[in-house]
Amino acid sequence: MTNKPTVGFIGVGKMGWPMASRLAADYDLIVSDASDERVAEFVRDLGGRPASDGATLARMQDGQGGMVMAKNLQNVKYQHGHIDWSFDSGVWFDDGSKAAAAGQRALKTAMWFLGDDEDGPMVVCIDLPPNTTGHVTPAHSHASDQVRIIITGTFKIGNDWYGPGDIRFQEAGKIYGPEMTGPEGSRQILIFNKRSGVAADDRRTGRSAAAEAMVKFIAEMSKPAAA
Ligand SMILES: [Fe+2]
Repeated sequence: MTNKPTVGFIGVGKMGWPMASRLAADYDLIVSDASDERVAEFVRDLGGRPASDGATLARMQDGQGGMVMAKNLQNVKYQHGHIDWSFDSGVWFDDGSKAAAAGQRALKTAMWFLGDDEDGPMVVCIDLPPNTTGHVTPAHSHASDQVRIIITGTFKIGNDWYGPGDIRFQEAGKIYGPEMTGPEGSRQILIFNKRSGVAADDRRTGRSAAAEAMVKFIAEMSKPAAA
């Protein structure tokens, strides 16, 4: 075990290698690539673990969440200028929580940067597992405007329940919540206009260590790749 936040990284080719290498020192990095040799080379030279290490792919610091960056789209079937994927396709990674280890649904995340601006828009796709314990996320804010689209399941924010097809705009800097996933789980797409504002600022405690790590991670990932 390590105290470093764990992130999964898809694609350590010409583009992905330098990006992933910047993360290797500060993160528990789990590397995936179409080429097993490339993964082995990366792990040998820079550290991290191969994704075939399975049980802990993309585990976040608290053992509950997962995160994967798919900066190099070549390995998720980027073709002719477009990419198609679904909530059941290969860009998703189960996290390393006990739920995932037990074969149950665990939180999955994929993040996509739009454009070349280092603080440009970001799309976050989340697959929240069924909430069987009544878990509540405290009220918080983000330093970015946000549009939330509910794809499946139900999700409660404040006193309001949202369901499939519902869309909610949240203004930057305004506190909202608390949040609760419904008993059937929920798949959602979140669109932020500024990557630097994706991490949550807790209403009472401010930004958590995990959120700080996420901010740092996103900033690192947003730097242009070395030529
Ligand atoms: Fe939030």
